[in-house]
Amino acid sequence: MPLIRTKKDLDQRLKNISNSLTLGLVPTMGALHKGHIELIKRAVSENGRVVVSIFVNPTQFNNKEDLKKYPRDLSKDLEIIKAVDSEIMVFAPSVEEIYQKNVQTKKYNFAGLDKVMEGEFRDDHFNGVGTIVEQLFNLVKPDNAYFGEKDFQQLRIIKKLVEIQKIPVNIVPCPIVREEHGLAMSSRNERLSEKMRLKAGFIYKTLQTAKEKFGTKSALKVKEWVVNQFIKEEDFKMEYFEIADIETLSPLKRKEKNKKYRAFIAVYAEDVRLIDNIAFN
Ligand code: PAF
Repeated sequence: MPLIRTKKDLDQRLKNISNSLTLGLVPTMGALHKGHIELIKRAVSENGRVVVSIFVNPTQFNNKEDLKKYPRDLSKDLEIIKAVDSEIMVFAPSVEEIYQKNVQTKKYNFAGLDKVMEGEFRDDHFNGVGTIVEQLFNLVKPDNAYFGEKDFQQLRIIKKLVEIQKIPVNIVPCPIVREEHGLAMSSRNERLSEKMRLKAGFIYKTLQTAKEKFGTKSALKVKEWVVNQFIKEEDFKMEYFEIADIETLSPLKRKEKNKKYRAFIAVYAEDVRLIDNIAFN
């Protein structure tokens, strides 16, 4: 399976792909789990050739400790990808290869999508995501690019990025994959104890009940209820819970017919930051 380390090598290999084949890109930061595997399988089933990128992007981490602790295991990742399809091209560049000496974000105008929820608590995070994803799109020039709905805000912002930078790529959203007890799959889950990994199913259960309540109660009442559930659970520290319009991501004040809403949550468990979301209608 081709492991590509440089932009030059990537360019050479992409030139050898027949124009009649569509190209799929699955951008990742490695530490691959079942959620990533679903993205990769889908990309393989929908494209003639697939590139999986593995790059722990420093500019999207607002917390140095989080970047340091981010799980990295390239040889395990390569085994996982090979088991899906040995023809997949893996692009795993170094930080220098991507940023040279300038490890900086570009500044984008995401029309406020980056100012709420994750953006409120992770300064410059989405500029960092935009910087790397734009560079990957420019290098790989994929027809289709695959992103998980676990990072729904990221997905929405990447659609905005493609619109404002006029990048000709089809963004394919893929459903959240969950562990047996409901915790959304994430590379960060590896840092939880086994006990907490089971217990953290509580986050999704709370979102499911909040969704039921949303049928008859106001957004404010649902929010109050969720906040109270987490106050009672000492093992978790909730950072935010928001019900937002799926297009603008602005927090819901009053329910409107014909609008679609989603609830978003960020919670700390054993010092690990976990995020999740659920469609409300
Ligand atoms: O979702 C991720 O893993 C990252 O944010 C991404 C899209 C690969 C950019 O670094």
